[in-house]
Amino acid sequence: MANTRFDADRAAELRAELADELRAQGKIVTRAVEDAIRRVPRERFMPSDTDLAVAYGSDNSVITKRDEHGVAISSVSAAYIQARMLEQAELRPGMTVLEVGSGGLNAAYIAEIVGPEGRVVSVDIDPDVTDRAAGLLEKNGYGTRVLVLVADAEHGVPDEGPFDAIIVTVGAWDIAPPLLGQLRDNGTLVLPLIMNAVTRTIGFRREVDHLASTSLEVAGFVPMQGDGRHPDRVFLLPDSEGRNVRLSFDSGIPEEMSQLDAILATERTERWSGVTIKHGVSFADLHLWFAWFLPGFCRIAADEGTELAAERGWFPFGVVRRAGFAYLAVRPALEGEGVEFGARTYGPDGEQAAAAMIEQIQAWDRGGRHTEPKFGYWPADSDHSRIPAGTAVMPKTHGVISISWSS
Ligand SMILES: C[S@@+](CC[C@H](N)C(=O)[O-])C[C@H]1O[C@@H](n2cnc3c(N)ncnc32)[C@H](O)[C@@H]1O
Repeated sequence: MANTRFDADRAAELRAELADELRAQGKIVTRAVEDAIRRVPRERFMPSDTDLAVAYGSDNSVITKRDEHGVAISSVSAAYIQARMLEQAELRPGMTVLEVGSGGLNAAYIAEIVGPEGRVVSVDIDPDVTDRAAGLLEKNGYGTRVLVLVADAEHGVPDEGPFDAIIVTVGAWDIAPPLLGQLRDNGTLVLPLIMNAVTRTIGFRREVDHLASTSLEVAGFVPMQGDGRHPDRVFLLPDSEGRNVRLSFDSGIPEEMSQLDAILATERTERWSGVTIKHGVSFADLHLWFAWFLPGFCRIAADEGTELAAERGWFPFGVVRRAGFAYLAVRPALEGEGVEFGARTYGPDGEQAAAAMIEQIQAWDRGGRHTEPKFGYWPADSDHSRIPAGTAVMPKTHGVISISWSS
């Protein structure tokens, strides 16, 4: 009993500290979101063996379910991204809100913000997840305020909506027309959108036939399941010991991939860009720039024991050009503090792969690094002639994403 009281007091303290921290980080900006974070007992929606310090760590997501291969398929999202997405959704009392991907906690936050006049629907493709979420919501006093349903978001939520806001809490490669069709004009859609294997959580506002972005955040999410799933295609580069460097492509593997088969046995070279960055400054936008503007872009993972796994000063972003493969590297800046970006490369065409990467590092330096990009989403049946001239577009199954990076 004494322990329970101690834990409850400690949880209340940690809850207050978390709200203060998220305010200081700028993840919370409104009173409504702050009040929700201060009120909902986060720890009660976590697996029962979760340490209180973990439950209240602003960056911690807690896995609640894995698939048969051990891959995380459901989790309680980190507090910083929950707070940020609630802000991005611009929720107000009385709204009707859809959450895609259940867990209970985020739905409780939404219920606190929209209040008794509002309505919250939370859907998940997995009945284990909806059972758990519905049980926790019931137990913690939100049972009548949140409707939890089993549904695949790819097909929308039949018989529900329209919604003032939709918050998607699972990585989405595209936006399904039935789901978008349930968003009111001027409504907000917040979703982690995957663009050539790089994810950004984008806050969109619906402007009649298309969406225009209003905010942006960096976060990782478990992947979408069901009819909207879009697994990466993975190509293996074996070393002489049979260990692999894995190249993951979002949309198609370049045709010449077989030319890379023995490439790790070739001599590695490097090229430098002259573009530097100070220590501690984020360059997440460079990855997004590559995803948009570097044909042949891929993500890289190296098996333990490979030469690459042991190497320092590289990042898991690569590019393929015929019989050449290059990846992002850094070295101490020759002048001043910080590091210089470059490319390390393998193969007879490695020089071309490195040149393509260096060209985009320099283009990002000139045109991207100091401005936040704006996104649009244009469904297939919208008027694409209204996409502003000079805007880049990325095709998806149900429409196109546009990006403009000019200040
Ligand atoms: C990160 S978890 C949700 C976290 C939750 N919002 C919270 O409060 O902590 C993502 C969830 O999305 C669900 N999901 C995956 N694909 C889905 C789909 N096509 N439709 C609906 N839910 C889906 C997964 O089952 C998983 O439970």
